Amino acid sequence: MLTAEYKMKVAFIQLLLVSLLVARTNSFTLRSWEESYALANAVTAQMTMDEKIGIVTGTGQLNSKRRCVGETTPVSRLGIPSLCFNDGPAGVRLTKGVTGFPTGINTASTFSRRLMRARGKALGEEFRGKGIHVYLGPAMDIMRNPKAGRAWESFGPDPFLNGEGAFETITGVQSVGVQACAKHLVANNQEHWRYGLTATVDDRTMHELYYYPFLRSIEADVASMMCAYNRVNGTSSCHNADLIGPTGLIQRDGFKGYVVSDWGATHDSASDNANAGLDMEQPGDYILIGGGVFGSGLKSAVNSGKVTVTRLNEMVSRILAPYYRLGQDSGYPPVNFDSQKSDGSGSLNLNVNVRSEEHTALAREIASASAVLLKNTRKTTTGTPSGTTTSGLPLSLSRIKSIAVVGQDAKMPNLKCNDLNECNDGTMSIGWGSGSNSLQFIVPPIDAINSFVGKSATITTSLSNDLNDGVNAAKGKDVALVFVNAMSGELGFYDIVVGNQGDRNDLNLWWKGGSLVERVAAVCNNTIVVVHSVGPVDLSWSNHPNVTAVIYAGAPGEQTGPSIVDVLFGNYNPSGRLPFSISENEADYGTKIVYDSLGFPEIPYTEQLLIDYRYMDSKNIVPRFEFGYGLSYTTFAYSGLSITPSGTSQVVKFNVANTGVFAGTEIPQVYIAYPSSAGEPKRVLRGFEEVPLDVGKSSSVVITLSQRDLSIWDVQTNSWVRPSGAFTVYVGASIKDVRLTGSF
Ligand SMILES: *[C@@H]1O[C@H](CO)[C@@H](O)[C@H](O)[C@H]1NC(C)=O
Ligand SMILES: *[C@@H]1O[C@H](CO)[C@@H](O)[C@H](O)[C@H]1NC(C)=O
Ligand SMILES: *[C@@H]1O[C@H](CO)[C@@H](O)[C@H](O)[C@H]1NC(C)=O
Repeated sequence: MLTAEYKMKVAFIQLLLVSLLVARTNSFTLRSWEESYALANAVTAQMTMDEKIGIVTGTGQLNSKRRCVGETTPVSRLGIPSLCFNDGPAGVRLTKGVTGFPTGINTASTFSRRLMRARGKALGEEFRGKGIHVYLGPAMDIMRNPKAGRAWESFGPDPFLNGEGAFETITGVQSVGVQACAKHLVANNQEHWRYGLTATVDDRTMHELYYYPFLRSIEADVASMMCAYNRVNGTSSCHNADLIGPTGLIQRDGFKGYVVSDWGATHDSASDNANAGLDMEQPGDYILIGGGVFGSGLKSAVNSGKVTVTRLNEMVSRILAPYYRLGQDSGYPPVNFDSQKSDGSGSLNLNVNVRSEEHTALAREIASASAVLLKNTRKTTTGTPSGTTTSGLPLSLSRIKSIAVVGQDAKMPNLKCNDLNECNDGTMSIGWGSGSNSLQFIVPPIDAINSFVGKSATITTSLSNDLNDGVNAAKGKDVALVFVNAMSGELGFYDIVVGNQGDRNDLNLWWKGGSLVERVAAVCNNTIVVVHSVGPVDLSWSNHPNVTAVIYAGAPGEQTGPSIVDVLFGNYNPSGRLPFSISENEADYGTKIVYDSLGFPEIPYTEQLLIDYRYMDSKNIVPRFEFGYGLSYTTFAYSGLSITPSGTSQVVKFNVANTGVFAGTEIPQVYIAYPSSAGEPKRVLRGFEEVPLDVGKSSSVVITLSQRDLSIWDVQTNSWVRPSGAFTVYVGASIKDVRLTGSF
């Protein structure tokens, strides 16, 4: 009989071994695709039919032994473990001892490839530490409409920025031997009706906008791709040969990994899916929205010749090749958690802590670097917060003696919500659904403010959105910090949060946040607003004279409090830029969410290339805050633009100088205008750089525009073609704040 004590000892020894493995084995030898396929083919050749079916079919959502959100059946005699798949894009989900990283949209807001990659690597380390083979991310769905429920998981409406976010994240994750999974292929752009809506997207729009980040993923050697719930041109993504088939988009572009279904995104017969290019079905069983297609169905299809053995072998090899390529066959930590017991209970949960001081610091840095300073009317004119001559940002505790903190968004959220974080009763640091992450270690703004300020100033709080209470707290104070939010998330069966079913109902701040700001501003002439939101939101009060500063902080993850304190009090000079335009009029965005429909709707993408700033530009609409916009506590000057050809590329060179009184980071952006015959939007983003500069320093910036950066998708020749004629180059601090112009 196993005594409790014995079991504990075993668990302890296991934990010790796993910890050692975790600590030791983040490095691996990357194999070539060729060598990886040779290994995969050799092992596939030794498998029985049932073993192959077990590799390409998930073990079942309803399987009580399932420990990750998706698994495959091991082939122990050949040394192949159960492959473990787990959510999600911003941190390991359904377990303890992990970091709640900033969201994808906040990562985009940094416009920093360095931070995008560092986040990917840190995510990879935590997934690896838990024994997870496949990180279900990054998400790279274009924010076609600002209210789209899951848009915060990806990198915004711009394909170039989204593509760089995808490329760097995948590179970071896979650098520690964890497989990434590019998702959701493709046109997965709203939550309502997602299980069957069909997006009709023309070829050029597909290539230049929705598919572009997936192309960048292939260039990052991504291990897998997830086909989406929705249909494209009438056919389910997971059996859409135009997308995933032998002559479909991803094969044409050299994708070497495997296609895995979104959970339950498979319909119709096994052969429909397998022959169209689906390599793996997850979670493997029927889950009401779909699924249960492979398994015995696939076995019959192979036995009856509807799916060839060659194709089945290919599916298995495609799945195993990335496993070998990333060295997962040697020294990989075993799965050591149980996603079905997310509270950490049960004997299968070894509760390995994969957090580290380094990861916490990185999560905090990215959160600070993604905060966008939208307004700061009382600029500081001397170089340190303590020497500030005004009461604006950054705040100085030598001048500010009374602080009001107003709004429920400043306080601790309910940590006992559910696994999907489907509540909004405290600070909003991440949306809800499978892309949500652990809030176990969240530090809300009020806690961070209290600990930073200490006894240097009095703090009065009103941590609800009660208007009168907020006014009473703010009246007569040196500064009122008002925290407001808006949230969205994933559609499930009953995921309605504050009346929003995945996609947001409107662009309003939640809990009358706009009224709260206006009421507080009426009594406090130094009202500073922090907006936590999943995307564009109504800021129509931003010109109020008593609103002296506005920070759009997005959905910054668990280090939300410390990161905003760093920005407010001058330990971090803001450098975040808007990865979308902000307008309070939804019509300004050029697209709509389809909420009401008799059955699954067809959504024609008639706006084609014109979403967000591209649409606004074409209609001469001036948003409240434009794409790429963000202020700093210092100022920067641009000079010396030169553009020179280099092979088929163009090299854009210029100088940026810090002309202000704080060290800071500028994010110069390069937009191009195509020759008008090309039929492109007026201006499109094609480059950005992160340029940290001390006071008085300057730096030369080089941004190379490749042949493809200068091309359009030509539907006649089915290729990227550079239009002939003159291109204009705009270099600036946002799409509107152009500092240098050139042409070639
Ligand atoms: C979808 O249909 C359009 C024509 O309506 C075509 O241009 C496009 O290539 C199709 N896309 C896919 C992925 O099949
Ligand atoms: C703001 O109000 C305070 C009194 O609460 C007053 O002392 C101060 O001069 C005002 N500042 C501005 C810039 O209006
Ligand atoms: C600004 O705040 C002051 C209190 O400091 C108040 O008297 C004034 O009416 C406010 N201004 C506006 C436009 O609400």
